[in-house]
Formats: sequence, structure tokens, C-alpha cells
Amino acid sequence: MHLAKRVANISPSKTLAIEAKAKRLKAEGIDVISLSAGEPDFDTPEPVKESAIRSLRQGFTKYTPVSGILELRQAISEKLARENKLAYDPDQIVVTCGAKHAIYNVLQVLVEAGDEVIIPSPYWLSYPEMVTLAGGVPIFLKTDSKDGYQFHAQALEMLVTKKSKVLILNSPSNPTGAVLSKELLVEIAAVAKKHSLFVVSDEIYEQLIFDGLIHCSIGAISSATLEQTITIGGASKSYAMTGWRLGFLAAPKPVAAACAAVQSHSTSNPTSFAQVGYLEALRSGRAEVRKMRDAFQERRDLIFGLVSDIAGLKAFKPAGAFYLFVDITETGLDSLTFSDRLLEEAKVAVVPGVCFGDDHAVRISFAASEDKIETGIRRIREWLKKI
Ligand SMILES: Cc1ncc(COP(=O)(O)O)c(C=O)c1O
Repeated sequence: MHLAKRVANISPSKTLAIEAKAKRLKAEGIDVISLSAGEPDFDTPEPVKESAIRSLRQGFTKYTPVSGILELRQAISEKLARENKLAYDPDQIVVTCGAKHAIYNVLQVLVEAGDEVIIPSPYWLSYPEMVTLAGGVPIFLKTDSKDGYQFHAQALEMLVTKKSKVLILNSPSNPTGAVLSKELLVEIAAVAKKHSLFVVSDEIYEQLIFDGLIHCSIGAISSATLEQTITIGGASKSYAMTGWRLGFLAAPKPVAAACAAVQSHSTSNPTSFAQVGYLEALRSGRAEVRKMRDAFQERRDLIFGLVSDIAGLKAFKPAGAFYLFVDITETGLDSLTFSDRLLEEAKVAVVPGVCFGDDHAVRISFAASEDKIETGIRRIREWLKKI
């Protein structure tokens, strides 16, 4: 069977596959502790659900404008001005079917065949695949836990060629939980300006940031930076709304218009009544977000303490998101073998770091109850003693 060349090197999301395998084992009655989830274990706040149900009952069941309903784009525009110091008009915002969809649209719009897209590594696994699907070439900028996964602007500049078109940033990061410092963002903005790079700033975890740290959007560095920046956000992680599939992109007008055009020929608008739920989340969900963030911070402290006590594992302390990225070099196993054997032999699901460009690490999610975290980490400790 001849499929299009563009899909030849695309593989299905491995993180979703591992989560599916853990669920299958659970369904067979096997006591699996899943620490692989990429989504909050909390439920969507009740008022958000209620508003979507109400709008559904009221018959809000038809197509909406492709870019999303105006009230929602206005609410996102106000949120970006208030919290992120970003001046985007509602017509610079496109509401999408998740942040993933927003990034996909943007890369389709910006990347031409052979264009290079610079991605700091470890990276969220969908970036390189989406770049490849757009005909581009992912170029990785290696970062290290020793440097807190920060990097030097010079290291970025050394990767820039005539073909460089886009830089993708993700802070707080999946999989490391690292938060890029404001100083570094200023330096990156200067490099982006000098070389006319677009910056796609994936800020999906912006609300889940710990220890009183303030999230910083690169687009807020200067109006010139904003002109080159596409800011990505969404409902999934902040409001525990992963299944609703709602995200957004905020971009310079021509980019936003082109993204809307692409979307008009693929998904059209995101689900009508789900948009109403997101609007409610933006209006009334802040207290819930703070509660979930505080819970994640407590779990971060718990899991970081537990894993740091295990000989042979080295954990990086995340400043945001809900993942612990753990160096497994001393175990002598590659990340796939480690994760496969851990699931088979100790019934704990984690994600191999190779999915994120680091085969010497695994990603352990703490989007799980304290009880599950304690049991899962105890099992890992006991298993490591045996291997
Ligand atoms: C870094 C990053 N960006 C984007 C997304 C996609 O989020 P959404 O559910 O809004 O599509 C994820 C989800 O795992 C993520 O980790």
C-alpha cells in the first residue's frame, strides 16, 4: 500500500501508546500504577461543566466562526493583556482544538520545505513530528539538567543558518518542568530579532508554576519581539480540560489569518458548547487553578524527595508542569528497556526519555494521587534493587 511520503517517518505518539498499554493492563485486572499521564488527574471544575451543559440545552449546537466565538477570543485577549502583558486583539487569536492543533496550524503556516526549526532538547515529542509533517527539518539544541535545562544564547546562535525559520520554546517544559529565566528570554529575543526567526512559545503549562515563580512570556519582552512571536496556550492543563480539546494561538495578524484559513479547511471551529465552557473557566476558574497548582507543588515535593533517595536515580527538581525527569544512566539501561521492564516486572508505567530526545532518562508524571505516587516510587525502588 502506497502512503504519502510525508507520513513515512511519522510515528504515533508514544506517550499516548504507553498510557493506553497501562490502561489495557488495568482493564485486565492487573494492579498497574500509572505515572505516565500527561493530564491532570483532577476533574474539570463544576461551573465549567454546568455552563457547557446549559449552552447545549439552549441549542448552542451549530457551527461558530472558524476562529472561535468572539466572547471567548475577547476573554483570551484580556487574559493575555492582564496576566502575560501581551497585547493581542481578538482578531489575532484563533481558538483551536487543543494547543497541539494550534502548534500544528502555525507550523503549517510558517514552515516551507527545507526550512529549519530549532527545538531545545529534551522536547515535547510532537514538535519534531509536526515540523516534519510541514516539510521542515527539526534542529535540536541540546540542554542539560546540570544547567537546569537553560542554554546560552550563543549556543542557539551557533545553530542558526540561512534556512532557520522558527524557534520553538516550551516553558514550563514537558518533559523536564524547567522554566526558562527572564534573562535568557531577553537574550533569545535578541537572537530571534537579529536572525528574523519566528518564535513559537508554547505556554500550555503557564499556570502550573511553583515556589512563587512568575511565568514570563517572551512576547512581552518588546513590541518587536511580539511581532515575531506566536503564543500558544489552552484549557487542557490549567483547568483539567484535556478531553474538551480547546487551545489557542495568538499571533501577528497575517499569521493568525493564515492559521484561521488552514483551520477553515480542516476542523473548522472547535466544538461550540466546549468553547462556552472555556469562557466560563477563564471567567471563574482562577481559584480552582490555584488549588490544583498547590496540590501539584505538594506532590512535586513528595515525589522529588522520594526519588532523590533512590540510589542510581538522579531527579531534576521541576519548577513547573507535573513531570519529574529522572536520569537513569547509572542503571545501565536505555530508557525503553527501563520503562518496558518496569511496566512488565513492577507494574509501574513511566515514559521513556527517548520519546523526548534523551535516552538516559525517564519521565515520571505526578498527576496522580499521593498514595499512587508513594506506591509507584516504592515499587521502582524495590525493582531497582533486584535488577
Ligand atoms: C508541551 C505541550 N504542548 C502542548 C500540548 C497539547 O495540549 P492540548 O491538550 O491542549 O492539545 C501538550 C500536551 O501534552 C504539551 O505537553
